[in-house]
Amino acid sequence: MSSSERFGYEWDTYSFMDENYEKQFLNWTSPLPKSFFKDKFILDAGCGMGRNSYWPLKWGAKEVVSFDLDERSVNRAKETLREFKNSEVFLKSIYEIDWKDKFDVAFSIGVIHHLKDPKKALQNIVNALKKDGTLLIWVYSFEGNEWIPRYIDPIRKNITSKLPVGLVHFLSYFCSVPLWTFVKIFRGPTGYLKQLSTFDFWHIHSIVFDQLIPDVANYWSKKDIEKLFSGLNIKDVSIKMPPNGSGWTIIGYKK
Ligand SMILES: C[S@@+](CC[C@H](N)C(=O)[O-])C[C@H]1O[C@@H](n2cnc3c(N)ncnc32)[C@H](O)[C@@H]1O
Repeated sequence: MSSSERFGYEWDTYSFMDENYEKQFLNWTSPLPKSFFKDKFILDAGCGMGRNSYWPLKWGAKEVVSFDLDERSVNRAKETLREFKNSEVFLKSIYEIDWKDKFDVAFSIGVIHHLKDPKKALQNIVNALKKDGTLLIWVYSFEGNEWIPRYIDPIRKNITSKLPVGLVHFLSYFCSVPLWTFVKIFRGPTGYLKQLSTFDFWHIHSIVFDQLIPDVANYWSKKDIEKLFSGLNIKDVSIKMPPNGSGWTIIGYKK
């Protein structure tokens, strides 16, 4: 089973919207305000069950085009976004998209760090943007998460990414129950753990599960990001850690 099929299991299981997803989206897209998305023609690359396409549509986007490689995810995204007439969801690979000079905004959240050829994927997303259109990418950061590549990666790479996905979902309880207990008691100490402490148990469980299923998961340093984004047809690139102190939000504009 490929990583995207494994994510398909995740999005099929966790297909409902939750109010915390709005806060998550605003964290990942910080410092952009809700009003930024109004009247924009937007692309969501690797949309999963559509939770990130949902908010710009709620806030008055002109149209949102979303796509994902996995059929179950696409079906769930269609359900999530069914109330919006100005939403379209496609089954497509990020390596095969051929939109050119079309979108005002193109975002991809939590996807690029799972890809074998992230540069190619980024080039395709940039191509899809109009001149001066906004590229918005969120990926895992090495900084602030050093313990994950050290302790979790060997388990993920060698064991859990190879086990049947239903079994990994069950095994995730052995991490999610202690993690949930810890964050509910200590409400921190990091910004990210503080944010987790506001989530329901199922949400924390789904995050642990999400960490354990893919075969590729890169935790990039700021230097890695500078290298990855060099040579793309974009200008005024900013690489910032979002308010919860986890990951990199990269914003740039098509030349
Ligand atoms: C961690 S999930 C993030 C989903 C969504 N962006 C979100 O934040 O809810 C990664 C997503 O990338 C998708 N994906 C992986 N490879 C892809 C590819 N080549 N083309 C399009 N989507 C892909 C997976 O199917 C999965 O839904």
